[in-house]
Amino acid sequence: MTTLRHVTSINDLTNEEVERVFDLARRFLSELGDTRLKGRARGRRTSQRIGRSAHTGAGQILANLFYEPSTRTRLSFESAMLRLGGGTITSADPASSSAAKGESLADTVRVVSSYADAIVIRHPRDGAAKLAAEYASVPVINGGDGAHEHPTQTLCDLFTLSREKNKLKNLNVVISGDLRGSRTIHSFVYALARFGANIIPMPGAAGMELPAHVDWRLKNEFNCRPVAKGESAVDAAYVTAVEPHQLSLMASPETELGVKLKKGIDVVYVTRFQKERWAGGKQDYMKVDSNFLKDKKYKRSAVLHPLPRVGELDIALDKNRRAAYFQQASYGVPIRMALISMLLDFDADHALDKFESGFRAGEYPLYEQPRKTGVRCANPNCIVHDPQEGIYTANRFHFIPSNPPRLRCFYCESDIEDMLAGHRRTRHYEAPGADMTAKKLKDVVFFADAAQARAAGYSPGRGAKQAAVG
Ligand code: NCD
Repeated sequence: MTTLRHVTSINDLTNEEVERVFDLARRFLSELGDTRLKGRARGRRTSQRIGRSAHTGAGQILANLFYEPSTRTRLSFESAMLRLGGGTITSADPASSSAAKGESLADTVRVVSSYADAIVIRHPRDGAAKLAAEYASVPVINGGDGAHEHPTQTLCDLFTLSREKNKLKNLNVVISGDLRGSRTIHSFVYALARFGANIIPMPGAAGMELPAHVDWRLKNEFNCRPVAKGESAVDAAYVTAVEPHQLSLMASPETELGVKLKKGIDVVYVTRFQKERWAGGKQDYMKVDSNFLKDKKYKRSAVLHPLPRVGELDIALDKNRRAAYFQQASYGVPIRMALISMLLDFDADHALDKFESGFRAGEYPLYEQPRKTGVRCANPNCIVHDPQEGIYTANRFHFIPSNPPRLRCFYCESDIEDMLAGHRRTRHYEAPGADMTAKKLKDVVFFADAAQARAAGYSPGRGAKQAAVG
């Protein structure tokens, strides 16, 4: 392996690489016995077990570091590595590992890098996988970090859609439930947009909309056009403008959406209320059941759910021909076999180092500043704010040259939208321009507001008046 590749976000993989994962997963599925359940058989108690094993991973070890509960992700990673002929070591109970003694993630992954050939990590903090990747000397795979992302679930989701619907482009996909707290949704929407699907958000309750930074990225970085029509939530959508010349022919956003939705909803993706990421108790929450699906637009919808379900998806649907969620979960094994094989170079034709790294990696300049002064990540659940882990992180951001510019946390990828730029030489601060190169960024300190800038000994510059006064 020539380069060390990590998968901390779905955007660490190019579209071509995702297709290669699917290619290989399909091969594993057919080698191991494809148990795809069709039609009414979905409801029968048919085993979803995949048969024989491959042996390309013999002698290799996968370490699972799980700091949060898991059934599917952990067991399917273990099963995948075992079916590849490799071995697994797992730490799934933080109370019985050195984490309970106060050991940091950074130290743990440095140690585990000498025990295993790849590490899967699940952690309650957003950005934990990125921190682990900074310190590990073997590939790190994000098995879910806080509310940030869950890229391997997205691979299973997309793979399910590609098999159920034979395509991803132009699919109409309803994403429903806890759009704010579900990390599966965040990886999923980026991938849907990249493959040209239309996204129709249906929050499970008020306040459960997509986070502002995810919404911003869909619109500004993933070629999505937001379209709203009337009051009905189903009629608001992100339309992926894969064919801009065609879209411009449409009379209005309403017409455009009407045309797109006319063929009905292809997919309903349901998520549970992420109670562990919300303060306060359970809210009124949507339920997807036969009543919900009786509208004719759902006639041909495949129903997906990353599972576990806790009431939001009626068990009476399990026998319904539209239910695809157990099939979706069964793909966890071949998909993870494929990803492990690619990361660890088990299969020369599918190795990840044959491609450019990542979807947009390296596109934005990095900004790093000492911790004593200036902005900090605004997401309170980011790993940088963890009392045990924070000292191992840098105060590092991607500089997004939008108008106005924003800073994206290197770890959790949430954005700071409002900041002031202090110039180290003149000690003046002002509203930042979008034209900052990596070199220029070295002469700048970003402040959260004017009070922070003044406290650091900076005074207003000529451009300070345009900036929001803190
Ligand atoms: C998801 C997760 O952990 O984010 N579970 C999974 O990996 N399939 C979804 C969830 O917990 O709601």
